[in-house]
Formats: sequence, C-alpha cells, structure tokens
Amino acid sequence: MNDKHLFLIGFMGTGKSATGTELARLTGRPYYDLDDLIAEDLGVPVPDYIRQHGEPAFRETEHRILGAWIEQTDQPSVLSCGGGAVLSADNRTLLQSHGVVVRLNASPDTVLARVSKEQGTRPLLESPGELRSRILELMREREAVYTGISDFSIETDSISPGQAAQMIIDSLKLTGQATV
Ligand code: S3P
Repeated sequence: MNDKHLFLIGFMGTGKSATGTELARLTGRPYYDLDDLIAEDLGVPVPDYIRQHGEPAFRETEHRILGAWIEQTDQPSVLSCGGGAVLSADNRTLLQSHGVVVRLNASPDTVLARVSKEQGTRPLLESPGELRSRILELMREREAVYTGISDFSIETDSISPGQAAQMIIDSLKLTGQATV
C-alpha cells in the first residue's frame, strides 16, 4: 500500500512543516506544504491574505487548492496541512480517502513558545487578549476534530523534527498503513 500520501495535520506550532520536510527526506517522497501552495496560487503570503480577505475566503481557497493537489498528485507524497485545514468536513473526507493522516500535537506552552518566536505569521492568533488564552481556546475547539480524523498522533514537545519523522515511519511500518 505504497500508493498513499502522508498528511500531517495538527495545531499551529506543532512542527508540521519541519517534520514534513524530514519525513519526505527520509522516505524519498516529494514534500508539499499546503500554505505554500495556497500562497503560490494567490500570489500573496497566507497571513496577508487572511488579514485582507478574512478567514472564510481563505478556507474556500484552502479547500480548492487541497482538492486540486489531490487530483493532480499521483506520486505518493508528504503534505503538511495548515492547522485549520481539517475544520472542513469535505477536507477531512478528502484526506482520509487519499492517505494516512498523522496528527502532530504539543502542549499549549510549547505552542506558545514556538509561535511567539514567529510573531506576525498567524493571524488567527492575533485577536485582542492574551495569546496563551487564545491558543487554549482554539485548541479546545479543535481537539475533537484532530483526534477524530487522525490515524495516529505524535507528541512533539521534546523531540526534534527528525525524531518525529522517524517515529512516524516506525508507526507506519508497525501498522502497515503505507510502505515507507
Ligand atoms: C491556520 C494555520 C496556519 C495557516 C493559517 C490558519 C489555522 O498554518 O494555515 O494561518 O487555522 O490553524 P500552520 O498550522 O502551518 O501555522
């Protein structure tokens, strides 16, 4: 079953892009980042687009680009998805029917530390109020969705992206979900 894509999902700051890059390198698969594909299509960085046009417009584009990517990508690949890509039931169906869905997870404090280092890149965390409360609120809202859609989950608090990628490969071998 080496025809399956590997999809990385999970909250902002859980290490999807860094782990996805390592996973692609270790498995020899092509690597894609859904936010990069969206930015390429729109001609503007994702944070700028969300600030200018709002989240609903971004979600429509995200759905369109994910659908197009799945349609066009025959070679089994690694795709890191933005943290909110799985909020759409249609996107969840697309992901589950075309690959293995791996959730990356981290504690609110780890996420806070990581996103604080990359300020200005996450418009959905920019609402007024304390950043930690906003992270907790969004994490709570999304927890059931992340748990419900993932085939398995990796905790990234105290491991490197390379270690996370190796753990994913080990889990895939154990469960036989994809040849890696
Ligand atoms: C979002 C996560 C971001 C990006 C956008 C919305 C979210 O991607 O898609 O800002 O709703 O969680 P990362 O998870 O890569 O930060």
